Amino acid sequence: MTNLFRQARAAAWALSLLRAIAMLKLNSHPAGRHFLQIPGPTNVPDGVLRAIDYPTIDHRGPEFAVLGKKVLAEIRQVFQTRQPVVIYPSSGTGAWEAALANALSPGDVVLMYETGHFASLWKKMAENLGLKPEFIAGDWRSGVDAAQIEARLAQDKARAIKAVCVVHNETSTGVTSDIPAVRCAIDNAKHPALLLVDTISSLASIDYRHDEWGVDVTVAGSQKGLMLPPGLGFNAVSEKAVAAAKDSKFPRSYWRWDDIIEANKGGYWHYTPSTNLLYGLSAALDQLLAEGLLNVFARHRRHGDATRAAVRAWGLEILCRNPAEYSDSLTAVMMPEGSDADALRALILEKFNMSLGTGLSKVKGKVFRIGHLGDFNDLTLLGTLAGVEMGLALAKVPHRVGGVQAAMGVLAACAAGRAAELARAA
Ligand SMILES: Cc1ncc(COP(=O)(O)O)c(C=O)c1O
Repeated sequence: MTNLFRQARAAAWALSLLRAIAMLKLNSHPAGRHFLQIPGPTNVPDGVLRAIDYPTIDHRGPEFAVLGKKVLAEIRQVFQTRQPVVIYPSSGTGAWEAALANALSPGDVVLMYETGHFASLWKKMAENLGLKPEFIAGDWRSGVDAAQIEARLAQDKARAIKAVCVVHNETSTGVTSDIPAVRCAIDNAKHPALLLVDTISSLASIDYRHDEWGVDVTVAGSQKGLMLPPGLGFNAVSEKAVAAAKDSKFPRSYWRWDDIIEANKGGYWHYTPSTNLLYGLSAALDQLLAEGLLNVFARHRRHGDATRAAVRAWGLEILCRNPAEYSDSLTAVMMPEGSDADALRALILEKFNMSLGTGLSKVKGKVFRIGHLGDFNDLTLLGTLAGVEMGLALAKVPHRVGGVQAAMGVLAACAAGRAAELARAA
C-alpha cells in the first residue's frame, strides 16, 4: 500500500468518525424530555408517533382508501366545514402557494394586511408569483383592522381586488385577528373578493369556522395544533374558490385542487401521498375529536391565560397590545431595554433543555415566544414557565419573581371550576 493510499484511507476514516460523532450529538439529549416550546413544530403525542411508525402500505390498495376516506372526512370537522379539504405533502408555505395559485391569476390585485413576519412572507410570495399585493401597514402588535379593509374595498369601484388575504393567528407576534369582522367588511363593501385565511398556528387550537365565517380558502399545516411533524399542508376550499380555480390562468399542476379533489372521492391521491403522515393524522384526529374541539379550545385558552398571568407577574410586557386579540396558542414576551431575547433563549436551552421561539425579523432579539399549543397540559405549562422564570434570573433580566405562582393560581382556579369568575376579574 502506498503512503498516499494509507493517508487517504486514514482521512476518510477520520471523516466518517467525525460524521458519526456529529450524528450522535444531534440525537443525544440530556435525561428527561426536551421541552419543545416553540410555537410549532409542537410536541408530537406518543400515540401519533407510534401510528407514523406503521409499515407503509400500497397507496393504491383497498386499505389505503379506508385511511384516506377517514382522514378526509374527519379533517373537515376540525376546519368546521362540509366542503373539501385538500391535503398536500408540503409545509405550510406550499399550502399558501396552492391557495394563491388556484384561486387567482397572474396580475390580480390582492389586499393583504401586515400583522407581522408571516403576513409579510405571504405578501412576498404573492409578489414572486406575479400577483399585485396591496399591503395595509400594521404595527406588529395588533391584529387586522377590518374597518381599513372595508374602506379600501369600498373605494375599489372597478372591483380590481380579487382577494383579501389575512393571517388568523400571527405566529411572530402572538396576535389573533377577528375573521368574522373581515368577512363583514367584505360584505358591507358589497365586494366580490375572495377571503383567504392562514390558520397555520390557530387550527385545532383556537376556534376557527371555515363555513360559518364565509372563508373561501383556509390554509393550514400539520406541525402545530394538529400535533404532527411538519410535512402536510391543507387548503379548505369553498364552492366559490373552486369555481374561481376553473378560471385561474396560473400555470400549475402539482398544486391543482381539481385533480386532488377528484382522486379524493375514492380515498386516494393521484400521486404518492405521505402515507405515514396520514397514519399520524388519523391518530391525531382521533385524539382531538375524542377530547372534543370545544375542550381543545378551552384548554388553549386556559394555558394562554395562565401564561399571560405569569408574564404580568414577572413585570414584563406582552407584545400583543389589545387583550381581545391575545393568542391562545403562543405568547410573545418583550424584553426589557438592554436585555437580549436570544441570549436568554440560549441560556434556557443550555441549562434547562427547553427551546423557546425566537423573535423574527423586525422583533429579533427583542421578544421571545412561548408556544403553548398542541399536545400540552397544565403541568407541562408550569414546567415551561418555571424554565423561563429560572432563565430570567440566571440571565439577570430585570423582572419580579412569582410568574409560576401566578400561573398556578389561574390553573388551580380553572381546575376548581372558577374559570368564569377569573375571566370576569381579568
Ligand atoms: C402563520 C404562519 N404562516 C405560515 C407559516 C409557514 O409555514 P411553513 O414553515 O410550514 O412553511 C408559518 C410557520 O410557522 C406560520 O406560523
